[in-house]
Amino acid sequence: MTSARGRIEVLHGVNLDMLGERDPLHYGSLTLADLDAQIVMWASELDLQVSCFQTNAESEYIERLHALRGPPTQVDGVILNPGAWSHYAYAIHDALELTGLPAVEVHLSDVQSREAWRRLSVIGDLCLATYSGKGPEGYRLALACLREELAGS
Ligand code: DQA
Repeated sequence: MTSARGRIEVLHGVNLDMLGERDPLHYGSLTLADLDAQIVMWASELDLQVSCFQTNAESEYIERLHALRGPPTQVDGVILNPGAWSHYAYAIHDALELTGLPAVEVHLSDVQSREAWRRLSVIGDLCLATYSGKGPEGYRLALACLREELAGS
């Protein structure tokens, strides 16, 4: 039986488990657990079901994307913050493309105003929107964007 509510997966990539210890100027002071709790709250306000996943292994990130295509972990949309992989890991681009899922990219920090190598996103062309530099709020905007997309489909 499929869920009537939109099912969204949030995929946190490399080093996102270190939130709370990373430079607060870029990433704020929330831990990943705090951030996930906030995301779950926003999702429930938007009547979305959300699951959050983090790994520091690129292969696991890719396998998780593959798994989102069918039961038991099938979802209707995906939010990605691949961390540094965003800037060079084309295998994540290809895995995301394979899902065919509506996707939104989030970065806590403003990647456009940092080092030049952070300006490239390998997944940007597959995403409905990119929210960068808005801190945790970027995830709320991403959830709202997917909700709107799913309502129209
Ligand atoms: C990040 C930005 C990336 O450039 C960086 O490597 C990260 C986090 C962000 O959320 O701002 O690990 O994706």
